Amino acid sequence: MRACGRPGPRPALLLLLLAPLGPCAPGTPATVAPAGDAAELAFSTERPLHVVSPAFLSFTIDANLATDPRFFTFLGSSKLRTLARGLSPAYLRFGGNKADFLIFDPEKEPAFEERSYWLSQVNQDICKSGSIPSDVEKKLRLEWPFQEQVVLREQYRKKFKNSTYSKHSVDMLYTFANCSGLNLIFGLNALLRTADMHWDSSNAQLLLDYCSSKNYNISWELGNEPNGFQRKAGIFIDGRQLGEDFIELHKLLGKYAYKNAKLYGPDIGQPRRKTVEMLESFLKTGGEVIDSVTWHHYYVNGRNATKEDFLNPDILDTFISSVQKTFQDYWLSLLFKKLVGNNVLMASVKGPDRSKLRVYLHCTNVNHPRYKGGDLTLYALNLHNVTKHLQLPHHFFNKQVDKYLIKPSGPDGLLSKSVQLNDQILKMVDEQTLPPLTEKPLHPGSSLGLPPFSYGFFVIRNAKVAACI
Ligand SMILES: *[C@@H]1O[C@H](CO)[C@@H](O)[C@H](O)[C@H]1NC(C)=O
Ligand SMILES: *[C@@H]1O[C@H](CO)[C@@H](O)[C@H](O)[C@H]1NC(C)=O
Ligand SMILES: *[C@@H]1O[C@H](CO)[C@@H](O)[C@H](O)[C@H]1NC(C)=O
Ligand SMILES: *[C@@H]1O[C@H](CO)[C@@H](O)[C@H](O)[C@H]1NC(C)=O
Ligand SMILES: *[C@@H]1O[C@H](CO)[C@@H](O)[C@H](O)[C@H]1NC(C)=O
Repeated sequence: MRACGRPGPRPALLLLLLAPLGPCAPGTPATVAPAGDAAELAFSTERPLHVVSPAFLSFTIDANLATDPRFFTFLGSSKLRTLARGLSPAYLRFGGNKADFLIFDPEKEPAFEERSYWLSQVNQDICKSGSIPSDVEKKLRLEWPFQEQVVLREQYRKKFKNSTYSKHSVDMLYTFANCSGLNLIFGLNALLRTADMHWDSSNAQLLLDYCSSKNYNISWELGNEPNGFQRKAGIFIDGRQLGEDFIELHKLLGKYAYKNAKLYGPDIGQPRRKTVEMLESFLKTGGEVIDSVTWHHYYVNGRNATKEDFLNPDILDTFISSVQKTFQDYWLSLLFKKLVGNNVLMASVKGPDRSKLRVYLHCTNVNHPRYKGGDLTLYALNLHNVTKHLQLPHHFFNKQVDKYLIKPSGPDGLLSKSVQLNDQILKMVDEQTLPPLTEKPLHPGSSLGLPPFSYGFFVIRNAKVAACI
């Protein structure tokens, strides 16, 4: 698993993709055929290169949502839960810089807004329950822009204040995850230290007491970007010490119902030289007790990234992947979840230039009612400012192909807030209902057209690829 927490302009409810749309495998960048020609694709479908988890595409709620716990109430929104459910199965990580400044206070009373929410849900099935009471939601929405400023200021200055959160906040977060079919990963505060600089686990114990009393099934992390602790908190912790802290946490989890719970770490930032050294010494001491190594990859700086950055193949190459992070993401992520299966195959485009036309090949997700084992999903990103065409390998010429083409909608182009799927604007039908993702069947043998800056998924039906059966 890779976790990725990124600073962003809309910190709280921002869904951060862990590793969206970039296969672990080299979905080899394609090339550009001479103008007018279709770029010819080569597939290698004998066996999967890799198998990814169905939760490959996962996301984070930034822990700075807890800066003022009243805003946890947003997690009761049925619209937000519907959107999140669309991306299940996935991990929901609760973490980020603020996680190391959060203190659990079991005695803390719920905020007025939280209490109103829970009162409105009494005697209802918690997962089917209604929305946030409208007066409460209105008030929180009005106040959010001011809260956003507070949160942003902390992020910019990298000077964080401690905040406390209550049992009710934990309930809100867990309920959101569980009712949306997401597995919660909770980032514990690693900056709580004893006089001799060991991790002080007493606050984590209070939280574990509470979560295990409620049978909450949670995976854990300890600390966010510990390589930056000096800068964020004036405390230097080396990799060896952090490894020992993880061993301590692992022991502690064993005392609770969390014996088999997953533990991930160390959530280091961009692995540069000093950070890599930290990771190495962490792994030497703590490597045994973690289930996955986590690090954070930043394609761009969320605060000042430009449209051009998202179109720059060099930036995409930094992780062989792409990130877009507005609500548009969301729809791309949804299509990815619905159409792309776990087995990664090899695709490439014949020709010289290897960067601005990017193609990836997976087995199709057979949970989709329209598709079956043996089908293939090709997805492709056109970074050119002109339309490009792709030509399937010859033996797929007679296959029917379903096209799902994603384009920005309206005059703002790539900066548009809405997107079209096959020329229809995507928007929720109502708070409980995602729109249908309707395919456009192509004639067998047609070339696959990709307008400038578009993203397309192409499902090759009855492909009968043995590695996908
Ligand atoms: C946060 O609380 C901890 C524990 O009381 C304390 O050690 C630390 O200095 C506090 N940090 C800030 C930024 O106030
Ligand atoms: C999580 O959700 C499932 C069904 O959605 C429910 O049966 C289960 O009790 C929930 N678990 C907890 C700990 O709330
Ligand atoms: C707890 O969550 C993990 C995923 O993090 C899942 O694999 C496991 O099945 C869950 N356990 C229960 C009892 O639901
Ligand atoms: C964005 O900000 C980072 C850090 O402040 C800086 O290093 C980078 O050069 C900036 N990029 C642009 C395009 O301004
Ligand atoms: C398309 O991009 C090329 C360079 O890649 C540039 O020279 C050309 O002006 C662009 N055309 C348009 C219409 O933006």
